[in-house]
Amino acid sequence: MKTILEIISQTVSKGFEEAGYDPSYGKVTLSNRPDLCEFQCNGAMAGAKTYHKAPIMIANEVCEKLAGDPAFAEISAINPGFLNIKVSDEFLSGYLNDMASNDKFGLDLSDPKKIIVDYGGPNVAKPLHVGHLRAAIIGESVKRICRYLGNDVIGDIHLGDWGLQMGLIITELKVRHPELPYFDKSFTGDYPKEPPFTLADLEEIYPVASARSKEDEAYREEALAATKALQGGDKGYRAIWKHIMDLSVPDLKRNYEDLSVDFDWWKGESDVDGLIPQMVADLTDKGYAHESEGALVVDVAEPSDTKEIPPCMILKSDGASLYTTTDLATLLDRKQTFDPDQVIYVVDKRQDMHFVQVFRTALKTGIVKPGTKLDFLGFGTMNGKDGKPFKTREGGVMRLEALIDDIRTAMLKKITENHETDPEEAKKTSRIVALAAIKYGDLSNQATKDYIFDIDKFTSFEGNTGPYILYTIVRIKSILAKYEGTLPETIKAAQNEAEKALMLELTKFASTITAAYEEIAPHRICAYIYDVCNAFNRFYHETRILAEEDQGKKEGWLALLVLTRRILEDCIDLLGFAAPEKM
Ligand code: ARG
Repeated sequence: MKTILEIISQTVSKGFEEAGYDPSYGKVTLSNRPDLCEFQCNGAMAGAKTYHKAPIMIANEVCEKLAGDPAFAEISAINPGFLNIKVSDEFLSGYLNDMASNDKFGLDLSDPKKIIVDYGGPNVAKPLHVGHLRAAIIGESVKRICRYLGNDVIGDIHLGDWGLQMGLIITELKVRHPELPYFDKSFTGDYPKEPPFTLADLEEIYPVASARSKEDEAYREEALAATKALQGGDKGYRAIWKHIMDLSVPDLKRNYEDLSVDFDWWKGESDVDGLIPQMVADLTDKGYAHESEGALVVDVAEPSDTKEIPPCMILKSDGASLYTTTDLATLLDRKQTFDPDQVIYVVDKRQDMHFVQVFRTALKTGIVKPGTKLDFLGFGTMNGKDGKPFKTREGGVMRLEALIDDIRTAMLKKITENHETDPEEAKKTSRIVALAAIKYGDLSNQATKDYIFDIDKFTSFEGNTGPYILYTIVRIKSILAKYEGTLPETIKAAQNEAEKALMLELTKFASTITAAYEEIAPHRICAYIYDVCNAFNRFYHETRILAEEDQGKKEGWLALLVLTRRILEDCIDLLGFAAPEKM
């Protein structure tokens, strides 16, 4: 279905043509001056040079041809040559009825592509902390947007399960319990089924080991050697690795589920280990990789670079693989198993250089098929109110669970303060609204920017917040629920200014979703629904909907409410949350 801008542009182009000008001048945009008109066309100004004519003359001629067109309530030529347009109420309601009866409100689907969204990226054996929140929230939304447009989309968590953190845990465990069979090279029996540690132990062990490796060079060497031995197939270490995975992965699943974040693939760095030797051999044989100071690298600098792009390291001088190696092998694996047209990485923006190197290497060496779109959506840091990276009150790293708990508690307090409700009901609602508060608080900012995590602001029912959006949806639902009888479907011509303003906001659905998809920008959807909610609330305050005696008017309004609700609900689903029935 055409967007409203396309339809109006088509009509205005026809006007240009009928007046003897090239129809390409008829492009219409949203008005820069909403106080004067709804849409505008600046084509007469552009055409003035070609036709050696004053723009206002052209505009006047076009205007004359278009006067009386049923799509317009008003079209006027304004100095120096603008065409100012207001659409007619009949045209607008007709367009909304088309939206309402079309699949996805008339959104044109993209040429279906196979897309992988790589997001999450937690390292196992460490609890999720606030640093993981943004990847989860933004990535989930990006995945849903890509899917909504009709693409075949896979969300892959890409676990960090093969790096130094594993070697560190193994090393620390060995210091504490050298007697365990995993460290006995002559052991030939079966390793215990039960892990020699709990999840809580792991969470304690890792930071200790990490801190120690920074002070103690020998310890660090040992951890590096343990990492290499694990990757090389050491049986005891692999058994420890499996214990860690068995404890850590279910815990991660529970945490992500709590955030309504769900992955199609739970693959990790370890899954592609077997592909590395052949990949490295191929890169070397084809002459892409060469030795540099003992390491194996691929040059990726390009003449047009404005800053230095160092070579992409494939193997370290001790032969161990690196973060780049597993990412490249993962792309190879993805080509073999899914053959994607596009891969989108949602990762901290500080990893920018890593992805420049990986993308260039993959494209240059044919690890991905030619033309594969590789996108890096690097997100900014979530800061505290002091403008510094978010910390606990004591200054430590905040666990994600603790953060979610805090916001749920704050939400519950507000909901119970607002009105009397059944405590169980209030608890359920507060969880739904808390999720919206967190997600909207994040997604309403452009992903690349840092933002301030402010519980008071995010949980507010007023302003540009998740709870405000949900509150509006619940308000619509409750009006619709009060209506007895089948809900009407036909939207009628607007009765007042506020109603028309709401209708005009709704028409921007398709262009908003398309932009959010093409720019990989969920914040576009937030901005859109905020405008829709504001327009709806204005209309609501000015209109007594259910008390209206004119049945025809009432039915038209209810149909408009139905469409508004459907659109808002689809949008929040794309952002990764839902609305409660009441709040
Ligand atoms: N595990 C990585 C980290 O903690 C993030 C992984 C991001 N995804 C990727 N394909 N490299 O830094």
